[in-house]
Amino acid sequence: MIGRKIETFLEAVPLAMLAVDHHARIIGANAGARAMFGEVLIGRPFVTVLRHPSVVEAVDWVIDPRSNPAPLPEPTLATPVEGVVNLRAGIQADGRNLVAEMTVSPLPPIVGRGAMIAILDRSEAEESEQVRRDFVANVSHELKTPLTAMLGFIETLRGPARNDAKARDRFLDIMEREAGRMNRLVSDLLSLSRVQSDERRRPSSEVDLPMMLRGVLATLGQAIDTAEMRVETSGLGGTQRIPGDPDQLVQVFQNLIENAVKYGGSGHYLGVTLYRVEYEPTLRGAAWAVEIADKGDGIDEIHLPRLTERFYRVDTHRSREQGGTGLGLAIVKHIVNRHRGRLKIVSHKGRGSRFTVMLPESLRRG
Ligand SMILES: Nc1ncnc2c1ncn2[C@@H]1O[C@H](COP(=O)(O)OP(=O)(O)OP(=O)(O)O)[C@@H](O)[C@H]1O
Ligand SMILES: [Mg+2]
Repeated sequence: MIGRKIETFLEAVPLAMLAVDHHARIIGANAGARAMFGEVLIGRPFVTVLRHPSVVEAVDWVIDPRSNPAPLPEPTLATPVEGVVNLRAGIQADGRNLVAEMTVSPLPPIVGRGAMIAILDRSEAEESEQVRRDFVANVSHELKTPLTAMLGFIETLRGPARNDAKARDRFLDIMEREAGRMNRLVSDLLSLSRVQSDERRRPSSEVDLPMMLRGVLATLGQAIDTAEMRVETSGLGGTQRIPGDPDQLVQVFQNLIENAVKYGGSGHYLGVTLYRVEYEPTLRGAAWAVEIADKGDGIDEIHLPRLTERFYRVDTHRSREQGGTGLGLAIVKHIVNRHRGRLKIVSHKGRGSRFTVMLPESLRRG
């Protein structure tokens, strides 16, 4: 009887809810609880469903505060109502680990003695909070490295190298490089945040892909020559207009070609190919593919899934030496997403890499 009444009541609540009697046996579970814990067996002891010590303690305390001398079980969140315990804990539900916020409150007296446990899964919020913390930690670290170097040189210039003109020139060069790196880092961060903030807004302008690629190759001509790379292009003649943000797409191709030069230059080959794909399944339509290939060192495949993460580098030291911030591919990925496109990376250690950007020919659908 109690069970029936409480079930109806629990089903009306949009959170995962469990109810237990005064022996801490389960007398009710709603759809949310079943989704979280799997089939919840009525009549089973509560601990068989949720065995986190703080939660079990809270349930005991709520069922009978007098028999429980401890004031409030830890860890607790602010408890607004007397006799109610709010707590946050990492729990296991049906084999998964969740970060949950829970409220344990007494059953309404007309139902009987016992407790209700409301559970809110906060794992996702927790995860994005962790991502944000990691990001701030990364940025701080990236800025701190050049700053520390610069402070060191300033000190040396004030002290031991005060009258050493040659050392002074050398140190100023290094300081200029470090300041340049910080400057680039800040620009990249701003650019990343801009791209992220309009990721949901589709580009409203058009670009001429072959012309754009010819332009980027011309801009990077000197770096390509210095690395003594043989450039092979295909499909870059004529014009081909597709929807796209010109500044952002230039940034994409610049970054990919720059990477090919910086990290794939040892193969002395750069391939830039543009071709049409009649039907690209992931884009569900016709696409234009821009392929940027090198025959350099390549990337070990264990790195590939994480390559577009912010600050991810295969060889941190080498990237820093090249003035890289590790944000380039993250920016590329967001820009490509904004264009409803797709980035494909194929690379083999020792044989080179191929980055392919697929852009939809039109943005009609979706
Ligand atoms: N063509 C490539 N060949 C080998 N490794 C590459 C290639 N492109 C990228 N990588 C690796 O991926 C990492 C991430 O590249 P990304 O463009 O995001 O950062 P970066 O080049 O270090 O910095 P930034 O682009 O901001 O100057 C690089 O540090 C490098 O280790
Ligand atoms: Mg780069």
